[in-house]
Amino acid sequence: KRVEFLNYDVLSDHGWSLDDDDLFEKASEADLAPEDYGRVLVKPRESLLEAAEERGFTWPYSCRGGACANCAVAVVEGEMEMPAGQILTPEFIDQGIRLSCISAPTTDEAKVVFNVKHLPGLDELRL
Ligand code: FES
Repeated sequence: KRVEFLNYDVLSDHGWSLDDDDLFEKASEADLAPEDYGRVLVKPRESLLEAAEERGFTWPYSCRGGACANCAVAVVEGEMEMPAGQILTPEFIDQGIRLSCISAPTTDEAKVVFNVKHLPGLDELRL
């Protein structure tokens, strides 16, 4: 599965928002650093976080077990599945927020914004 990723931190630098329809288009044209925008391949049985780390990226995490939300990503396109029993509320899941330590794409292609742990409301979930 191919995942195109974008660092949430660069959104505010450029005046972009998570809801922008052409967010990834703008990102691809913005000459961003390789750790802020790019692609990773997620192998079978690998989590998105593991796939990113395998490529040498350091994405935020803490518990690696679905209990802290530090590793949260926002899925902008595609779908990512997560096991039950994790910390996110149904509202966040409806908004496409996933925990990268325990989740992986189910679609061949996905677009995710990583590093969204500072999203309003997610902050309070973080332990
Ligand atoms: Fe804690 Fe993923 S690192 S939920």
